[in-house]
Amino acid sequence: MPSFKNIVAAAAAIAAVNAVPTTPPTPLIPPQDVPVNQFTNDAANGAPFLNNLAQQAGKLWFGTAADIPGPEQQDLEYMTILNDTRIFGAITPANYMKWQYTEPQRNNFSYTGGDVVINIAEDHGKYVRCHNLCWDNQNPEWLTTLVANGVSNKTMISILQNHITNLIEHWGGRCYSWDVVNEALNGTGGWDAANPFYQVIGPAFFPIAFEAAEKAVKKTKADIKLYYNDYGIEAGGPRAAGAVNAIRSLKQAGIQVDGVGFESHFEVGGTPSTAALVQQMNAFIALDVDIVMTELDIRFVNASAANAGGYAQQATDYYSAVSACMQVDRCIAMTVWDFDDKYSYVFDVPSLNSSANMIVLVGSHLHSPARASLTCTLPTSPATPLTRLWPTRSTTSPAASLARVPSTLSLKWK
Ligand code: G3I
Repeated sequence: MPSFKNIVAAAAAIAAVNAVPTTPPTPLIPPQDVPVNQFTNDAANGAPFLNNLAQQAGKLWFGTAADIPGPEQQDLEYMTILNDTRIFGAITPANYMKWQYTEPQRNNFSYTGGDVVINIAEDHGKYVRCHNLCWDNQNPEWLTTLVANGVSNKTMISILQNHITNLIEHWGGRCYSWDVVNEALNGTGGWDAANPFYQVIGPAFFPIAFEAAEKAVKKTKADIKLYYNDYGIEAGGPRAAGAVNAIRSLKQAGIQVDGVGFESHFEVGGTPSTAALVQQMNAFIALDVDIVMTELDIRFVNASAANAGGYAQQATDYYSAVSACMQVDRCIAMTVWDFDDKYSYVFDVPSLNSSANMIVLVGSHLHSPARASLTCTLPTSPATPLTRLWPTRSTTSPAASLARVPSTLSLKWK
């Protein structure tokens, strides 16, 4: 299995970086079916895929989130696509490194869920973005009860430091990076009042979290990158300004912060322009940090808009978003927030949970132009048939699916 270093070296060794067009191809590549036996065909003829293309363009990966352990592990096609490092060069665990799963009881840690993702990633030579260490959501009941009962500042600081230290030291260099603090701001650029660490510790929770992370990273002696990850900071506005200030304050205090995660949960027709995204990336990069598009997806707000015109708009929006990362050297990688509608987070988030919300990457909308647009954005040879760049779900029977799984497929996740 290639190590992280080998992957980076291989990516760096690829000489030619094709020019990235600044506008979507017109007309967009018409949606087409994918041959049922494409997995084996592609394995045989070495057709390029998303992650291959991203790495050839000098990015570290094109990756995905995955909410596993879960039913996805019984879904052969999902796992085949997830495992294929030509398609996805990194995984972010969508849930199982969060507090409620990793410290379900105080100072009693569980690594089971996170290990599943890390093992799959290591089996297939992928990076892991470890997510996350401090958030206002998915915290264990014991923690929220302590806060409700007026836990002291001192105790809360020590709980936060203990959690961060434990997780970073446990997984060490198996994590490429950690989202140390997640979504800590509100829409006006101030601190999120719902964050329990802010509620008890005040604004100091932010440098305290990063300081603890830095200390733990040093102890591991591994090169683990530390990120602030957020949505609504991708294209200007008060929240972005608040994030810039927060990163600047860490830098001025000499505390390690290596990158900013642009979550990039966008809406069809409401996606920021490439220029706006590039401008905001550069505002952070001026503070000497990297950018990763960490949770890219572009959903329909109204189901009725999911027609030919809507898909064309969605394709244009994916193109705008990915183009921004392609145009900025220090936007080092891109990750989509899962790749199959069937397992989309929108059904987990009450405020988004309606039939009017759809993410279209693969799954039931396998013929969407979004996939073609994503692949068009990444440099490729014009001779390459775009339909082969991203395998899609078929409606074949389980037996037929099994027949087309490469014999080298690892079943270690089971
Ligand atoms: O824990 C229960 C589990 O016991 C049960 O079996 C399962 C069955 O439905 O539900 C489980 O909890 C759900 C959890 O996802 C795991 O699947 C929660 O109800 C659900 O609320 C939770 O949603 C997650 C959401 O964060 C929570 O806010 C999504 O899967 C996850 O994709 C999403 O991820 C966030 C990022 O961490 C931060 N940025 C935004 C992004 C999307 O909202």
